[in-house]
Amino acid sequence: MPRIAYVNGSYVAHRDAAVHIEDRGYQFADGVYEVCEVARGFIVDMGRHLDRLNRSLTELSIDWPVHRRVLQIIIREVVQRNGVHDGLVYVQVTRGVASRDFLFPEDVASSLVVTARKGNPALADKRAATGIKVITVPETRWDRVDIKSVGLLPNVLAKQKAKDAGAQEAWFVDAEGMVKEGGSSNAWIITRDNVLVTRPAVHGILRGITRTTLFEVAEKLGLKVEERGFSVKEAKAAREAFISSATTISLSVVEIDGQPVADGKPGSIALSLRKALFDVAEKTPA
Ligand code: PDD
Repeated sequence: MPRIAYVNGSYVAHRDAAVHIEDRGYQFADGVYEVCEVARGFIVDMGRHLDRLNRSLTELSIDWPVHRRVLQIIIREVVQRNGVHDGLVYVQVTRGVASRDFLFPEDVASSLVVTARKGNPALADKRAATGIKVITVPETRWDRVDIKSVGLLPNVLAKQKAKDAGAQEAWFVDAEGMVKEGGSSNAWIITRDNVLVTRPAVHGILRGITRTTLFEVAEKLGLKVEERGFSVKEAKAAREAFISSATTISLSVVEIDGQPVADGKPGSIALSLRKALFDVAEKTPA
């Protein structure tokens, strides 16, 4: 089945899909995006992802490219046309195509690209059973990381640094030694008293959709969640640590900067959160 992408009003072959060289996303990273998980034929938490897309667009004064209901139809169509049962769907909106100028262009339509990609749930489960290693890096990003902008160069560099160090994620750490979030995920620990701890999403991190849904999962499992900062030192001494994102769900962190977390194996709580999320999340048939 050939891959199909949606680009500004057309469904095109993925290999030929292109935007104009003067798209502001390409020239200025002047755009935002969302990644939704597709699991067992359902788009997971699409409503929350579109709410956050709306927030990102509003914060940057970028117009919706199409009506929200139309975007829902396009997302489902792209997932269907690519035969994605498990995987992800990517939505990107930029301020549009205009002759290069820093100022917002007038009367220019926003650009919309939607793609979908198959995943490998068996491989993802295997990875969850092994856990991942993280390194810590100083925060180098701008202040508005609450906006899901396509400007991800510090994240790219941090994640590459993690890979070069034999790890799978990098945690950004603020000047006080407190963990902010990962290059493409939120960061969590579980204390010795089985309390889930994650940094408040008011400022300095992205309010992850998986993070929000995990609050509900935790409640269902009778687990307490505390929104507060935690240091790298506290994370290294925690009972468990894990990351969350649409592409990883909850994924145990078994090593931080070369130091094992607890016994260096995935913890049972992160694994049970992972198992329960699908049931709790909103599910839209693709
Ligand atoms: N990233 N923090 C950052 C910096 C992220 O890039 C992401 C998601 C998250 C988790 O958000 P959510 O739970 O809504 O996926 C937190 C996506 C998956 C990506 O860029 O591919």
